Amino acid sequence: MYEQKFHTEDILAKSFLVTGGAGFIGSNIVEYLLKYGAGKVRVLDNLSEGLRENVELFIANPNYEFVEGSITDYATCLKNCEGIDYVLHQAALGSVPRSIKNPVATNEANVTGFLNMLTAAKDSGVKRFVYASSSSVYGDSAELPKREENIGKPLSPYAVSKLVDEFYADIFARTYKTEVIGLRYFNIFGPRQKPDGPYAAAIPLFMDALLKNKSPFINGDGEQTRDFTFVENAVQANICALFTTTEGATGRVYNVAVAERISINLLFNTLKKLTGSAVNATYREEREGDVRNSLADISKAQKYLGYQPTVKVEKGLEITFNWFKTRKPQKV
Ligand SMILES: NC(=O)c1ccc[n+]([C@@H]2O[C@H](COP(=O)([O-])OP(=O)(O)OC[C@H]3O[C@@H](n4cnc5c(N)ncnc54)[C@H](O)[C@@H]3O)[C@@H](O)[C@H]2O)c1
Repeated sequence: MYEQKFHTEDILAKSFLVTGGAGFIGSNIVEYLLKYGAGKVRVLDNLSEGLRENVELFIANPNYEFVEGSITDYATCLKNCEGIDYVLHQAALGSVPRSIKNPVATNEANVTGFLNMLTAAKDSGVKRFVYASSSSVYGDSAELPKREENIGKPLSPYAVSKLVDEFYADIFARTYKTEVIGLRYFNIFGPRQKPDGPYAAAIPLFMDALLKNKSPFINGDGEQTRDFTFVENAVQANICALFTTTEGATGRVYNVAVAERISINLLFNTLKKLTGSAVNATYREEREGDVRNSLADISKAQKYLGYQPTVKVEKGLEITFNWFKTRKPQKV
């Protein structure tokens, strides 16, 4: 992966802090940065969800540093922003159902942790702070495609936490002139996304089940749609956001997606073909807090960040499935 370079800047003498870098998207950002010779890549992760194997992959690289610690502790955030040029803030507790079950834990990591990191980055003179938001902020808005300026009412504590992050980022941009960019990810999938645990996402769950010849659950009738986005596109958006010089690009949020939607049923059938499995899904009730349809308008990210998704869903599923079959970590 990452044969295509998304930046033209010299990153050899630059330092990056990736929070949540032992997780799925964070470890993919780390892989890209190290592949292109970033001067320093520090990861701050408490390993609550992240995996040690995603640290071991990179630990032999002298430009890589792993710190086990929590963003809920301000002193930890401040210490780890020292000597850092750019922050890529990915650490959070994902999952809508988890947030419904335990809103306090979600708030602590996603809101308190976020504010700690943003403040620490400001106080340390970090050049730019790029952070993970979520398409869940569109909540009950029925508008399709989703445009950044039109959001509805959040449908879960998770969505509230990401919306609060966006409000804080906006205030920091206006009050302290912090260079901050938010990325509203739409259902990201790819290598290193976990298939296990109670809050796993649909694609790794389906792949895992099909490989084991088990019937996975589909929530609702399966006709709900999503703008599934391969992780390489999300990494590209982060890299573009770090270095964009377009006037007015900072202090905003952007949709990160492919701008194509498929239903869960179609996704499942595509995976069945890919895996050669004859297993059928088991349908169960709709999930609380889920949105019905999701599709992004990505024109703002294209205009301000120069983002152009390069990997479509089918190709992304193929790459992900090949990784899943072996699940062998690759050294960078
Ligand atoms: N995967 C998606 O489809 C998706 C969609 C929208 C938004 N997001 C957001 O993108 C970011 C990355 O998501 P992901 O899918 O890679 O999830 P992930 O769970 O794989 O990664 C998140 C990482 O953050 C770490 N973390 C959690 N709480 C922490 C804390 N208090 N201190 C330090 N580290 C902590 C976890 O250990 C984990 O490694 C998150 O902010 C998530 O909300 C993801």
